[in-house]
Amino acid sequence: MEIGIDKIGFYTPEVFIDMEKLAEARGVEPAKYTIGIGQEKMAVAPLSQDAVSMAANAALEVLDDEDKEAIDFVLLGTESGVDHSKSGAVWVHHLAGIQKYARSVELKQACYSATAAITMAMGHISLHPDRKVLVLGTDIAKYGLNTGGEPTQGAGAVAIVLSANPRILALDADSVSMSEDISDFWRPLHSDYALVDGKFSNQAYLNFLTDVWGEYKQRTHRDLSDFEALCFHVPYTKMGKKALKALTEQASEEDTARLMGYYEPSISYNKAVGNIYTGSLYLSLLSLLEQGPELPENARIGLFSYGSGAVGEFFSGKVKPGYKSHMMKEAHESLLSNRRELTIEEYEAILQQSLPKDGTDVALDFEETSTGSVVLKGVQDNIRQYGIK
Ligand code: COA
Repeated sequence: MEIGIDKIGFYTPEVFIDMEKLAEARGVEPAKYTIGIGQEKMAVAPLSQDAVSMAANAALEVLDDEDKEAIDFVLLGTESGVDHSKSGAVWVHHLAGIQKYARSVELKQACYSATAAITMAMGHISLHPDRKVLVLGTDIAKYGLNTGGEPTQGAGAVAIVLSANPRILALDADSVSMSEDISDFWRPLHSDYALVDGKFSNQAYLNFLTDVWGEYKQRTHRDLSDFEALCFHVPYTKMGKKALKALTEQASEEDTARLMGYYEPSISYNKAVGNIYTGSLYLSLLSLLEQGPELPENARIGLFSYGSGAVGEFFSGKVKPGYKSHMMKEAHESLLSNRRELTIEEYEAILQQSLPKDGTDVALDFEETSTGSVVLKGVQDNIRQYGIK
């Protein structure tokens, strides 16, 4: 029985900044951000869009009534959780209108956790082939103003419906993962901003990639020639290029040309959104499937997931014939093109806003979000109030 991705959608807040203008404001050569880092635009989350509301918006885009009846497991991966106890998945389960006899859980391991959720979903569906699982990767990447990580921020969520006999990507069940206790990126409980050892995190990412890929090759007897395309965790798009270069260092010209040929379509959305942590790999997959040419029937895609701290995994899947007709390309293009550009001053003001930390009630302004979207309306008696605008 095949198990995999039946639907995939995404949401990003409706305001962004231009990376060249951020570079000018920081006194940096614009080419450093657009070429050296590889980012064109960066999504900014107003206070009324948090990890829960963004995930609910991504879920509502893809779910129909049949999905809402068949889903009995909601797994939300995030490192921007909004409560130490209650999982964001419970709110999304409610906001998306999923039938009540379901499990809802939040998972955390930096940018990796949505991949663990997918593995759990595959196990669940193999035991219960008539059920579906909703996996969410949702985050606000925030390093702070005037920091090294500032040009690699972003915000957004990806929603994935997994099922038996999937219509988009049938996943192989032979992934290889690894864990190692390192401190390349983390966010202490007291901080709204992530801390990072940037150069070390780049190196750790590449070390994990080459290690799990080597082990994957040995276990599966597959090589680069078995893959039509590769997708990577993309904290910023240049990282995807570094990953591709690392894997193709000793590859044939033919393999290198084919795999490099898919790089641009696979980063098109990431370039316009920025880092969305847990969802970044899946935003890259979505970008490849929607913005790339139609992949040959049963073409295999390799995927590398990395979450600092650190866990990495290499896994793969085969595209299903006719997958293009199940994508939502126009909706995603219009979501990106209908956003409003913020001035750098507006962005700086938004980035420094936070909800009251002393439990005071607050009502939020949510004018930046379009009608019909889920928003965080405010906090009352220490309880977050979500609703549809
Ligand atoms: N034109 C073109 N490229 C330029 C440039 C210019 N004018 N100026 C610099 N660059 C290039 C550099 O050569 C470098 O390229 P390389 O990585 O291929 O060597 C790139 O731009 C970045 O420059 P660098 O000086 O290394 O930037 P930095 O010290 O500001 O740090 C990060 C960059 C990504 C490490 C930093 O933004 C960060 O810490 N981000 C968060 C962590 C992260 O995302 N980690 C990823 C793994 S999970």
